[in-house]
Amino acid sequence: MGDLPRILVLNGPNLNMLGSREPGVYGTTTLADISREMEALAAELGLELEFFQSNHEGALVDKIQEAYGKVAGIIINPAAYTHTSVAVRDALLLHAAPVVEIHISNIFKREPFRHKSLVSDIAAATLCGFGKEGYMLALRGMAVLAGGWKK
Ligand code: DQA
Repeated sequence: MGDLPRILVLNGPNLNMLGSREPGVYGTTTLADISREMEALAAELGLELEFFQSNHEGALVDKIQEAYGKVAGIIINPAAYTHTSVAVRDALLLHAAPVVEIHISNIFKREPFRHKSLVSDIAAATLCGFGKEGYMLALRGMAVLAGGWKK
């Protein structure tokens, strides 16, 4: 681990299938492509990234807990857990560091059950509807937010 501010990038269930999953909604870019592009941008911005994807709620909670006190920020696409997980929300609340919520699709243009996020009101910022570019925008935003945040 270097001296650069460390940002945890979390992706929830089914996002490992990006590229083949509902391409009309989520595009054809894979999660590995997104991670590579984020790494290149992080190098420009002077941030260090750690990536984690899981289809399991408890695994995401464990990862968020492990990061407690060790990261300058969390970028999270909680995927379906956005709409259901009090556990993910409560784990994020541990952190004084900023949380940025990102969704590839515009959740407000979709089914009513996707309009409610259990993360948005505790996040420093939320982005949705920019496709995979949302991850880059979230990272740029995080560089601003984490820059002003001291552990
Ligand atoms: C998503 C939107 C969620 O409603 C959905 O369950 C996902 C992906 C998005 O990135 O647009 O899995 O978070």
